[in-house]
Amino acid sequence: MSTATARANIALVKYWGKRDTTLNLPAVGSLSLTLSSFRTRTEVTFVPGLGADALELDGRPAGEDELARTSRHLDRIRARAGILLRARVVSANEFPTASGLASSASGFAALTAAAAAAAGLAVGPAEMSALARMGSGSAARSIFGGFVEWKRGERADGADSVAEPIDTDDFDVQMVVAVGGRGPKKVGSTDGMELSRRTSPFYDAWVAHQPAELAAARAAIAHRDFSALGEITERSALRMHACAMASDPGLLYWRPSTIEGIERVRELRARGVEGWVTIDAGPHVKVLTRPPFGPLIAEALRSVPGITEVRVETPGPGVEVVP
Ligand code: PMV
Repeated sequence: MSTATARANIALVKYWGKRDTTLNLPAVGSLSLTLSSFRTRTEVTFVPGLGADALELDGRPAGEDELARTSRHLDRIRARAGILLRARVVSANEFPTASGLASSASGFAALTAAAAAAAGLAVGPAEMSALARMGSGSAARSIFGGFVEWKRGERADGADSVAEPIDTDDFDVQMVVAVGGRGPKKVGSTDGMELSRRTSPFYDAWVAHQPAELAAARAAIAHRDFSALGEITERSALRMHACAMASDPGLLYWRPSTIEGIERVRELRARGVEGWVTIDAGPHVKVLTRPPFGPLIAEALRSVPGITEVRVETPGPGVEVVP
């Protein structure tokens, strides 16, 4: 039996589109920040005599799809470790809210580390990242803390499509996470990005621009050029959503609170408050900022109708196996 924890990450340069759906190989590289408090804790026990894998999620037996996806991931680890035993998995999202904020990144990162440890499999960080990627693309990045780049890679087997940490010890940043926007459940990222690849006339342009955006983000981080990194961040999110919106049928992840949140941040920015918005496959607004601006931006977002919870996050650590 082993337990591991991992945190959610938010992409500054977005991933949207796969070049291989079986191995979860991205069409583009991406760059993210691992958060401090959006943590998943997962315990894996391989049990002799157990007939099938069992999954408990946030205190309840998981649904069929979640269990099947977890089992497929355990199969990858069993195949490497050469074991056949079925597992009991208990996973809890220690998130401040049950908002539907993406938990697949922290979830599959924690599952990978806990299952590998429980299976007695020694895997280095790069291999761990490649394994986590097969569970959920963005999980490749949650293996590491702070700023992380997930390389697109070139190889067909995906061995070079792994994440790497970017050394930024002295780059003091914050991420304001504003949860808000109710409405019908939207198309998930896996289906959404596949729809964009097949039908969005902007998809090829999106893919073609990404290397330059990644290079610019790397340079901004290397030079600790915060406003350059902010501009790249907001631009990447808007371009990803433009590509998604241009799909057929169009994907619209935003709610009125999303637009209002973007407006507030832009108004503050015009007055010297350094904050840039990013949005994933949902309505929540996340703002890349730095001290002392985090609390100010959080306060402005708390008054947006529809935004229900706001947190100021700092960079968090990568995956950890609990001793
Ligand atoms: O790997 P997934 O299915 O969690 O996809 C993540 C897609 C986005 O969150 C929209 C962008 C990203 O890079 O995290």
